[in-house]
Amino acid sequence: MAEKLKIATGDKEARYALLYEQMVAILAGEEDQVARMANAAAMIHHTFGFFWTGFYRVIGEELVLGPFQGPLACMRIRYGRGVCGTAWKERRSIVVPDVEKFPGHIACSTLSRSEIVVPMVRDEEVCGVLDIDSETLATFDETDRVWLEKIVAII
Ligand code: SME
Repeated sequence: MAEKLKIATGDKEARYALLYEQMVAILAGEEDQVARMANAAAMIHHTFGFFWTGFYRVIGEELVLGPFQGPLACMRIRYGRGVCGTAWKERRSIVVPDVEKFPGHIACSTLSRSEIVVPMVRDEEVCGVLDIDSETLATFDETDRVWLEKIVAII
């Protein structure tokens, strides 16, 4: 567990495959959800060098900021608001190639240009979301969606 994260240098598919394998090993035996989210955010973030990578947890009627890597972010997002609140409401992953074209997008930073949000589901309910922002347009595609859904399923 003390060893450094190996960062794959291949294509996106290869990077996710190694990331997933390492995440399974690193999260094994840790039951605390915040600890799991914290290391998952760090691993995803540093594998790809994203702008912002983090979790929001459903608490009551809002998403509340959880473990993340990157600059300061908004702390609470209401149900159905922004990309995160929409992913929660619609219970589906949302890939946003250009945040300026997403109605109601919440700009935590003006540097963010594209985004992906993947809901975390426990006992049929959304319990949080994984949110990743990129400084580049159209960073995320189906490969990201499929792998990130696989990743949130083990957190
Ligand atoms: N852009 C998100 C808000 C969270 S920040 O990107 C970290 C949204 O529209 O929900």
